[in-house]
Amino acid sequence: MKQSDQLATLFAHAIWRLDPDAGSLRVQMYRQLRDAVTEGRVAPGTVLPSTRDLAAVLGVSRSTVVEALDQLRMEGYLVTRQGAATRIAALDPIHLNNVAKRPTATEQHWEQADGSPTLGVQHWLQDDPPTPVTIRAFRPGLPDIRAFPAQVWATHLGRRARQPASHDLSYVGHAGVSSLREQIVRHIAETRHVVARPEQVIVLPSAQTAFDVAMRCTLREGDTAWVEDPGYPGIRTLLRAHKARIEPVPVDVEGLCPAGQRSRPRLIYLTPSHQYPTGTMLSLARRLELLEVARAHGAVIIEDDFDSEFQAHGQPVASLQGLDRNGVVMYVGTFSKSLAPGLRIAYLVVPPAYVGLAETIVSGTGIGVSIHVQLAMADFMAYGELRRHIHRMNVEYSKRLRTLHRILSGAGYELILPSKLLGGLQLCIGLPEPLIDLDVVSELQSRGLVALPLSALCHGQEWRGRQGLLLGVGLVPTDEVEPAARTLCAALEQCSETVARRAARRARRTPQ
Ligand SMILES: Cc1ncc(COP(=O)(O)O)c(C=O)c1O
Repeated sequence: MKQSDQLATLFAHAIWRLDPDAGSLRVQMYRQLRDAVTEGRVAPGTVLPSTRDLAAVLGVSRSTVVEALDQLRMEGYLVTRQGAATRIAALDPIHLNNVAKRPTATEQHWEQADGSPTLGVQHWLQDDPPTPVTIRAFRPGLPDIRAFPAQVWATHLGRRARQPASHDLSYVGHAGVSSLREQIVRHIAETRHVVARPEQVIVLPSAQTAFDVAMRCTLREGDTAWVEDPGYPGIRTLLRAHKARIEPVPVDVEGLCPAGQRSRPRLIYLTPSHQYPTGTMLSLARRLELLEVARAHGAVIIEDDFDSEFQAHGQPVASLQGLDRNGVVMYVGTFSKSLAPGLRIAYLVVPPAYVGLAETIVSGTGIGVSIHVQLAMADFMAYGELRRHIHRMNVEYSKRLRTLHRILSGAGYELILPSKLLGGLQLCIGLPEPLIDLDVVSELQSRGLVALPLSALCHGQEWRGRQGLLLGVGLVPTDEVEPAARTLCAALEQCSETVARRAARRARRTPQ
């Protein structure tokens, strides 16, 4: 064997283990030599055998070797000086320590980062753990995703994907394409009495991103934000990320009650139509009072109108935004409840003074919704499909809520706040002492049902310790509500009996 052949054999065997069944040989050659370099298994300055010798030893075509080495040369792992042999580049071994060691597929492991310092993910995990989709009664938070009009949606989406207009394919629609902004304005003017021009509508992937943009427009570190108590955990997550001072303000039957608050808010978060989670509605007196508080303190109100399109009785109450004459309300709507969260489409309607800033934030952070999806949604709305879907689902959700409410109140469990059922996709009942909602939730789980414990959503003095259940009707088919509600009542009964038995045992053990 020639000396050059011997060198090629030694080098090749030290570096490469090629497997014809493991995908592209060129990619394997490239990766294995790159890893040998970054892991320090081949010394800087080492001369590589000729590509012809390597091809012969490895049993691959010469072009495979040339392409793999060219890639490594281009990326700086190899160097070739004019007329000289190819060598391993001289890379600083200290810097190479920072390069990830590539685990093989079987060794792969994922380490959990323990939280983002800016988003405060660890808090988010505590407040609102991401739950896998359990299609079970009475999981709150999801609409009836099985009733999603997939065929019609696919038609609009397909058409827009097949025929993209060239002007739509650039950066034009990063804050929302004009046709969708127009459709949204028309929809919320009709159904929610929102007063806005299309330019005020910012199209975003979710209500959550809309809250984030609203906060970026208004909050500085340490600013005070009033949030409803009990309230939506997603808003607390973002406020923590923005390093705001969160002030839980108690909710009563008229909604958030500002009386007695001494702090000066910079931001007030409200769910005026159906308060999350109690379902109560912000009274007109409170609406006017809060608009005045916001004006007086130079605060901004985020109006989260997440599920108000669904009403159990007649027309919804108009939005707070429609009453605002001072440009203090930022209105947030989402298709997550009216259609499906997986579509990733929501919108933020900002007062005119914030349009430029909000657009700058959206382009600067790169959040946005794909153009063909926006255009398809605009068509879906223009053809009346959204209106039809909402109408159809409103009938179903109202029936489901009424059935659930009837059965629960027949068993003595009442809504935690409003005297009558207003609508939406969920209801919240109070639990009498000494029932503990977390215990009830685990009993429900063992019977195949899901609910959210109210106590997990209470933070301030007034609501701390209150027990209740948030029950969603989105995922339970209308004809299955009654049997599921009966199972729910049986579980509550069982929990009451267990609690009573324990109390009796304790009483017997306690000396008179
Ligand atoms: C009160 C409330 N606001 C906002 C959202 C989030 O909506 P999106 O999925 O558009 O972020 C939810 C989701 O459950 C919600 O319950």
